[in-house]
Amino acid sequence: MRRFIARALDKLPKLDKEQIHNLITDLAMENDLLEVVLDSLTDGVVVLDKEYRVIFLNKAAERQLPYMTSDPYEKPLWDVLIDEEIAGFLEDYLQNDSGVDDHEFTYGTGMGNRTMAYSIMPLVKRKAVEGRVLHIEDVTAKRQEQARLHRAESLASLTTLAAGVAHEIKNPLASIGIHIQIMQKELDMRATVDKDGFRSYLSIVNEEIERLNGIVVDFLFAVRPMDIQAHPSNVNNLVSDLVEFVHYELDEKGISVITDLDTTIPWIRLDEKYIKQALLNLIKNAEAAMAEGGVLKIATWMEDESVCLAIIDNGVGIPAENLSKIFEPYFTTKDFGSGLGLTLVYKIIKEHGGDVSIKSKENEGTTFTFRFPVSRQDRKQLKEYCEEDCEEDCDDEISDSDC
Ligand SMILES: Nc1ncnc2c1ncn2[C@@H]1O[C@H](COP(=O)(O)OP(=O)(O)OP(=O)(O)O)[C@@H](O)[C@H]1O
Ligand SMILES: [Mg+2]
Repeated sequence: MRRFIARALDKLPKLDKEQIHNLITDLAMENDLLEVVLDSLTDGVVVLDKEYRVIFLNKAAERQLPYMTSDPYEKPLWDVLIDEEIAGFLEDYLQNDSGVDDHEFTYGTGMGNRTMAYSIMPLVKRKAVEGRVLHIEDVTAKRQEQARLHRAESLASLTTLAAGVAHEIKNPLASIGIHIQIMQKELDMRATVDKDGFRSYLSIVNEEIERLNGIVVDFLFAVRPMDIQAHPSNVNNLVSDLVEFVHYELDEKGISVITDLDTTIPWIRLDEKYIKQALLNLIKNAEAAMAEGGVLKIATWMEDESVCLAIIDNGVGIPAENLSKIFEPYFTTKDFGSGLGLTLVYKIIKEHGGDVSIKSKENEGTTFTFRFPVSRQDRKQLKEYCEEDCEEDCDDEISDSDC
């Protein structure tokens, strides 16, 4: 409230009729201004009292809330909403006194199907919670833009991949062409054929055809859409399982494995089968980079609302000029590498909404880091999931990450 109105209210008993009239006019104007400002917002704002009844809702909220069976000022908000899913969500979060950020719903409105992000905050007045504020943001355009970028990104990577395939098939095709020409010339020039010579040409042609087949199979594997089935997962358990699986082979190569796992990281949604495949690709690369033996370290931690996982080796490292190429399809420095390992790793992590970064120094080693963003709301839901899971599996103390 403006300070002059507060001061006038303090002096109310001493005010004459005209002064009271002016005060009420000022109050009404102040109120009007606030309403105009709130009604001009494109985001919906709903203010609820302590019994979760509506005290105020702006014009945008009137349009955005999937409506209302009766007077919203009489009953708790969830009791007047037609949409059962949103009503259930509001009842849960409001009654549990928990805040929530950007919980998304998609439903039909006067403007077609829209995606709305709901957030709930406490309404704090003089340090006491006097109710709740519900904020509703129309994120349809944002989500459409994200989907467009995703498609553009997929298209760009498909173009690079196609260019890679074209480059890869050029050599075997040229070799097949040359050997067929040689055989044709020999047939034209000689009355009898040198069977052994022909056999060796044909076996080269055969090898090149096999190479072509391999390229096509790898290509299909890399472009096939991934059927990601993400389930709540404990990254530390996944790492431990994997270490158990690979450490004998690594031991034999003189590579010791150490883990530094933060047991407080939250559960996240992953398709374990794919993430294991990505990690195995990185472990294989690390193994190749430490041909003389070394140390492979796997670490997990939480940073900026993301669960992070790093695979660190102290192998030969990657020359600076190759760093920008290693995720490109078919880039390899190995005699028998496909050059698709890291392409696949990148694809898997992106499909999980995560990110991969890399740090490397020649003769010192390489670190690949995965980052999986986890929203507060997801953290809460997955914590509940983890706790339920723990209740079934064990009676001991529960941490976020390790049941
Ligand atoms: N940990 C690492 N240390 C050093 N170089 C690496 C490491 N990881 C990847 N590289 C470099 O990146 C290149 C591309 O890796 P990628 O996994 O995509 O293919 P590849 O390992 O060569 O073949 P494939 O995965 O089919 O066996 C490798 O050939 C290697 O030069
Ligand atoms: Mg590889």
